[in-house]
Amino acid sequence: MSVIAEVKQRLDILELVAEYVTLQKAGRNYKGLCPFHSEKDPSFFVFPAQQSWHCFGACATGGDIFSFVMKKEGVDFGQALRLLAQRGGIALSPREAPDKAKDEKKERLFQINEAATEYYHHLLSSARAGEMARSYLRGRKVRPETIKDFRLGFSPDAWETIKSYLHNKGYAEKELVEAGLIIEKEEGGSYDRFRNRLMFPISDSQGRVNAFGARALDDSLPKYINSPQTPVFDKSNSLYGIDKAKAAIRKENSAIIVEGYMDVLTAHQDGWRNVIGSMGTSLTDKQVAGLRRLTANVTLALDADLAGEEATLRGKAVLACSNAEAKVIPLPAGKDPDEVIREDPALWQKLVEQAMPIVDFAFQSVLSKVDVNKARDKSLAVQKLLPSIHDMRDPVQQSHYLRKLAAALKIEESAIRVALRELEAGQRRPHPHKPAEQSRPARRFLSSPIEEYCLALLLQHPELRPLAGELSPEHFECTENREVFIKWQHSSQIPTLESELDSSLLEHLHYLVDRNFPPAIRGSERTRQFALADCILRLQEKLSRKLETEKEAALELERARGGISSELSKLSEQGIDSGQRLQDVFVKRGRKPWLQ
Ligand code: UTP
Ligand code: MN
Repeated sequence: MSVIAEVKQRLDILELVAEYVTLQKAGRNYKGLCPFHSEKDPSFFVFPAQQSWHCFGACATGGDIFSFVMKKEGVDFGQALRLLAQRGGIALSPREAPDKAKDEKKERLFQINEAATEYYHHLLSSARAGEMARSYLRGRKVRPETIKDFRLGFSPDAWETIKSYLHNKGYAEKELVEAGLIIEKEEGGSYDRFRNRLMFPISDSQGRVNAFGARALDDSLPKYINSPQTPVFDKSNSLYGIDKAKAAIRKENSAIIVEGYMDVLTAHQDGWRNVIGSMGTSLTDKQVAGLRRLTANVTLALDADLAGEEATLRGKAVLACSNAEAKVIPLPAGKDPDEVIREDPALWQKLVEQAMPIVDFAFQSVLSKVDVNKARDKSLAVQKLLPSIHDMRDPVQQSHYLRKLAAALKIEESAIRVALRELEAGQRRPHPHKPAEQSRPARRFLSSPIEEYCLALLLQHPELRPLAGELSPEHFECTENREVFIKWQHSSQIPTLESELDSSLLEHLHYLVDRNFPPAIRGSERTRQFALADCILRLQEKLSRKLETEKEAALELERARGGISSELSKLSEQGIDSGQRLQDVFVKRGRKPWLQ
C-alpha cells in the first residue's frame, strides 16, 4: 500500500478536524466555524462517510484530509503528507521523503552504479582479465547478445580496482561505500566488495542500475554476493529484469516469476521476455504490488519440493493480498528454469501452458500428503487450505472451493463453513489495546479507481489530451490525483511532469504511468476515445453526487438559520445544472436517471 493510501486508512478526517474546530452533529455530518476564515455562524462541514470537508461560507471550497492540512498549515502536498504520516505513525520510505538534497544524492548513486556497470562490462567484453568469465559464460551457453543486453560484467580479482577507477572519476570514498561497491574496514581504509565475480547489474523499472548481484566463477561460497540495501536499492521491492520485461509483460498481460539471475537470462535468451527474477528470497508483497501495475496474471515457477508450502503459506499471503490471478508452474524435481529451458525448451513451453491456479495447486499438494480417511488429517487439510478459501473475494469461487474441499475430504460442506466462520470471527475480534476502528474510512475511499483510470489514460495516451477539455481539477476529489491532474494540464511530457511534481507524488505518478490496460484499450485509439468519454461522464456523475451530498448539508444550514441563503442557491444551481446536463446524456445512453 502506498504511503498516501496508508495515511488515508489510518487517519480519520473527523478526528483531525476536531483538533482545530469545535464540531457539532448536523444530521449525518458535522458542522462548525470555518477554521480558514472568521465567521459567526457555522458554515464549515465535515462528511465522515466521504472523508471530506466543505466550507459553504467565504471559502466555498472543500476537499479531503490532505487539502485540509495544506490549507490549514499553508504547506504543499509533500509537507502535508509528511505531517499526516507522522501523525499516523507511518514511516515515509526514503523514496517518498521530499528532499532535494536526498534526490541529488540518489542521482549520484545511480551515476556511480552506471559507471561501475560500464566498467565491469568493458572488462568482461574485452579485457584479458575477463577471459575466465567469458569462458564460464560460454560454458553456460550464454550468447554474446545476451551478455550485451543484460550488460553482464566481470569484477577483477583485486582489492581496489573499482575503488580507484571511480575515485579517479571524481566520486568520494564515502559515496562508494554508500553505493555498496566498497566496504569500509574497521581499522580504517576500504576495499572492493565484488572481486573475481561475474556481475549482474540490477535495475529499477526505469532501467537505472541500482545494485549488483555477483556470482562466483567456481564453487566458492557464498555463490552470490548482492549489493546491500542502499538509498536506491531495496531488495524487497526489486525484481531482476523488470526493466527489460516490462514491455512484454504489458503486451502479453502476464508475467512469469523465477528465482535466479541465470533463470531470467536463459528465459529471455530463449524468447520468454515476460520473465523476471525474485532474487532468491520468497516473494514479498512489495514485489507483487509493483508487478500488479503491469498485469494481474502472475505465474510463479517454483521448485517442486517447496511449491506446496509456498502456495499455502508464504506465497499465498502475498498474492491473496494483492488479489492477483496467481498460477504456479511446478518444476521437475531438482531443476530450475535455466536448466529446463536449456535442456528441453518444449517441456518448459508445456509447463507454462499447464500452469495451475495457485489454489488448485495448494489443494493438490496438501491433499496428496494427507490420508482422507483419518479424522486428524481431515482437520489438518482444512486448517491449511481454509485461509486461501477465506481470502477469496469472489463468492462464487469461494463456494466452488468449499464444495471441492468437502468432497475431497468426504465431509459435510456445513462443517467447513463453520470453520470458515470461526476463522473470520477470530480475525475480526478487536485487539484489546487498539481503539475501535469504526470511524476509519471505508476501503473504497482509500483511492478513487475512476479518477486513477482517467489519469492513467491521459498520461499514457497523449493523443487524448484535446478530448479532456471538459475536465477540471474539481473532478478529482483525491488530492493526490488532483495534484497530478493540475500539473498534467501544464506539461505535455512525462519527464517534465516528473520534474514539476513534488517528489512525494512520484510514486503515485509512476503507478499511473505503469497502470495496465486491457488489450482493447491498448490496441485501438477509438476504443480509448470512448473509454475516456465514459470516464469523463462518470467523473461528472461523481461530482454531481458529491454536490448533492453537500446540498443536503447546506439545507441543514438553512434549517438552522431560517431563510434561503445565497450559498444554497448557488450550490443547487451548480449541482442541478451539471447534474441535469449529465443526466440527459446518460439517459440518451440508456442509463437510469438519478435526479428527481
Ligand atoms: P540458486 O542457488 O538457485 O542459484 O539461487 P541460480 O540462480 O540457479 O544460479 P546458478 O544457476 O547456480 O548460477 C537462486 C537465486 O538466489 C539468490 C540469487 O538471486 C540466485 O540467482 N542467491 C542465491 C543469493 O542471493 N545468494 C546466494 O548465495 C545464493
Ligand atoms: Mn541455476
